[in-house]
Amino acid sequence: MRTIAIVNAKGGCGKTTIATSLAAALAWEGYSVALGDMDPQQSSSDWLAQRPEEYPGIIGVNAQDGPLRAPPDTDILVIDTQAGIHGHDLGNVVRRSQTLLVPVLPSPVDMRAARRFLDHLLELKPIQTRQAKVGLIANRVRPHTIIYRELTGFLDDFRVPVVGQLRDSMNYVRAFERGLTVSDLPPYLAWQDWEQWEVILDWIRSKRSMGKGG
Ligand SMILES: Nc1ncnc2c1ncn2[C@@H]1O[C@H](COP(=O)(O)OP(=O)(O)OP(=O)(O)O)[C@@H](O)[C@H]1O
Ligand SMILES: [Mg+2]
Repeated sequence: MRTIAIVNAKGGCGKTTIATSLAAALAWEGYSVALGDMDPQQSSSDWLAQRPEEYPGIIGVNAQDGPLRAPPDTDILVIDTQAGIHGHDLGNVVRRSQTLLVPVLPSPVDMRAARRFLDHLLELKPIQTRQAKVGLIANRVRPHTIIYRELTGFLDDFRVPVVGQLRDSMNYVRAFERGLTVSDLPPYLAWQDWEQWEVILDWIRSKRSMGKGG
């Protein structure tokens, strides 16, 4: 089983949006996907509870019920983590994952918080020994803005790749309310989002994103 965790201690940067979107995109590809929810706020579990039956299914696993364990036939476990994650919880999720995605928002407060988080994350042993690979995602991007240029400059400073960017779009907000993601929306509405996800999925499919740990 492959495990991909979405992590950033900063609240509101898009962890749940990205975890649910990734889970749905992989389910559309035919994988057996589990979505693990480590957040006591239960946003991704609530999202999954709303998901209509006619869309590709995702198995929910909830850390509030005990240690996260996906069913044995799961191909890919996507883990949504809580804001403020640190210490044991962070160590555990990093140790069990082959891939970590870190969303970062283009705002000065978020970039400062991301620097602190990444400085800490990149020191952890499974990452130093390449057991787990890290990819950054620039989220809620509005291209051609000054803050976007600052964000790309900021992200380039790290030793880890920027594996994609997601535009700021009401598609994410509206789909989420209905238990859906941009992968579930028709192309005439969401083709730009699909294109952006294809870039991230290319990285996820490549060896570059696969640590040997977990
Ligand atoms: N690309 C996007 N375009 C538009 N809105 C977005 C996008 N990404 C996230 N959002 C919105 O931003 C808000 C925060 O996103 P989300 O809940 O995914 O963040 P989070 O990191 O999981 O937050 P928390 O730390 O509280 O768990 C939500 O209202 C979500 O709909
Ligand atoms: Mg969340």
